[in-house]
Amino acid sequence: MSQDAVLDELVSAAKRSFADAASPADLENAKAQFLGKAGRVTELMKGLAALSVEEKKSRGAAINLTKQAIEAALSERRQALAQAELDAQLKAEALDVTLPGRQRTAGGLHPVSLTLERIEAIFGSMGFDVAQGPEIETDWFNFTALNTPEDHPARSMHDTFYVEGGTETAPNLLRTHTSPMQIRYAVQHVKKHRPLLDRGELMPEIRVIAPGRTYRVDSDATHSPMFHQCEGLWIGENVSFKDLKVVFTDFCRTFFETRDLVLRFRPSFFPFTEPSAEIDIQFQSGPLAGRWLEVAGSGQVHPNVVRNMGLDPEKYIGFAFGMGPDRLTMLRYGVNDLRLFFDGDIRFLSQFK
Ligand code: PHE
Repeated sequence: MSQDAVLDELVSAAKRSFADAASPADLENAKAQFLGKAGRVTELMKGLAALSVEEKKSRGAAINLTKQAIEAALSERRQALAQAELDAQLKAEALDVTLPGRQRTAGGLHPVSLTLERIEAIFGSMGFDVAQGPEIETDWFNFTALNTPEDHPARSMHDTFYVEGGTETAPNLLRTHTSPMQIRYAVQHVKKHRPLLDRGELMPEIRVIAPGRTYRVDSDATHSPMFHQCEGLWIGENVSFKDLKVVFTDFCRTFFETRDLVLRFRPSFFPFTEPSAEIDIQFQSGPLAGRWLEVAGSGQVHPNVVRNMGLDPEKYIGFAFGMGPDRLTMLRYGVNDLRLFFDGDIRFLSQFK
């Protein structure tokens, strides 16, 4: 083989070797074989030393051309590999802008929360304050202060969950109704207006509702161990059962958005009211027409309870009521199983958005 043919063959060998290199690291190894310190081009250069000056010139020029050809092939392959790497990366990170976007569904309020908001708005418009109280209550606020002493039979109607932290004679419990808020709120109110009372002046009326969670040992289609109540209390110097009737009738008609509705006050018993009444409503038209539906307990606040509020029952009088927002929600939306409200099934809940 002529010397030129040897050089041509060397360039071809380099090109093949570079083409075989599948990665930049492989390519650098291949480069070393030809252009490295012990590479084949370098070996050829070293061979020049033995030649004459004339031969060195021509042979050296030929080797240089060979070297340049190999370097050109190397850089071409480098670029190709870099491009391939970039293409692979772009492909892997491809974004299909035609895919439909991820939907963000808007949440909504729980149907019972919607009812509580309505109750607060309606009573708010009638001048009632809205108060919140603790769900873990003391025996005093839940029973004793409400004229329900320890051996009172009404306590068994309110079987509840007792919790740690109380004492033997004054256990802590999950409140069985929102009525303890009558005492809590009134005591604060009286404290605030103590100076007026001490001067024998008129105390501003107590007018409050107290919505919230309550607990009893009860569980079926119409009872849940956790349920909601909303207490109402109106105390002044001259607040009568007539006022209760007006306020509650107004409330029901506004809540259910109909005047086609009548109320019935059915004699009942609660230790903390005297006289006491269950409030029933009856729609005159629509799917529920003709049936009496119980919606609240109520009554004139018992003198012992007024006394426990820090007021003189000879001077202050009023009424209280306790209604069931869960029940009101069922009636308003035509839901027949209370448990649906607490199962957390999104198919049910999303209907109220
Ligand atoms: N607390 C009573 C109950 O849970 C309801 C009620 C409230 C009755 C206020 C009279 C006055 O059954």
